[in-house]
Amino acid sequence: MEWNNQPWTCFTAMHRRFFALPLEKKNSTSINKSPSFNGYIESGSEKSNNVVDTREGMYLGRKYSHDKVMIDNFPDESDLPGFAETVRTYRAQLIKLGFAMMKAVAVGLGLPDNYFEDKCSPPINLMSFWHYPLHPAETDSWGVGPHTDYGMWTFLLQDDVGGLEAEITEGKWNRLEANTRHILWLTWETASRLGPKVCIEPQDIV
Ligand SMILES: [Fe+2]
Repeated sequence: MEWNNQPWTCFTAMHRRFFALPLEKKNSTSINKSPSFNGYIESGSEKSNNVVDTREGMYLGRKYSHDKVMIDNFPDESDLPGFAETVRTYRAQLIKLGFAMMKAVAVGLGLPDNYFEDKCSPPINLMSFWHYPLHPAETDSWGVGPHTDYGMWTFLLQDDVGGLEAEITEGKWNRLEANTRHILWLTWETASRLGPKVCIEPQDIV
């Protein structure tokens, strides 16, 4: 799939600018104020395996409202000019990528390439971005604890800091290369019904 460099470089820059905002500005988009469960989550608000996660983050497009309209909960345009457009452009690219991947799965299963198209429409896309603060010296917490995602795919764009590990074979954790020119493609719980439990392939962004 051809990628225009613009959406992901803009998204990375916007990610940094968002988390650099003062806490009260970030909290103006708090997830607690959103009917569709979109918005900012303060550090320490979530848990993995009953242990507090230290990361802070933002859900962008997590759920639909009762009338099936997704409501974004973005910062004020004057606080972060271009945020909404950048996120929507990037999200549209990822949705295209998801459909392209479903075509590949269909062909791999010997089905017509459009087999999953109507079954995945409209797609449920749970977009989020995360910031991992410096890890406190003495804590049982992680940035985020070991977990699996429950969707079909996770497309993961990292910065160049690294730290992500994946259990590719049971009991063996591998540190993943932090490469800003790759999108990691991870298959999760839904996809695991179709094949191997977890596989990871770096995908070049062209
Ligand atoms: Fe996850």
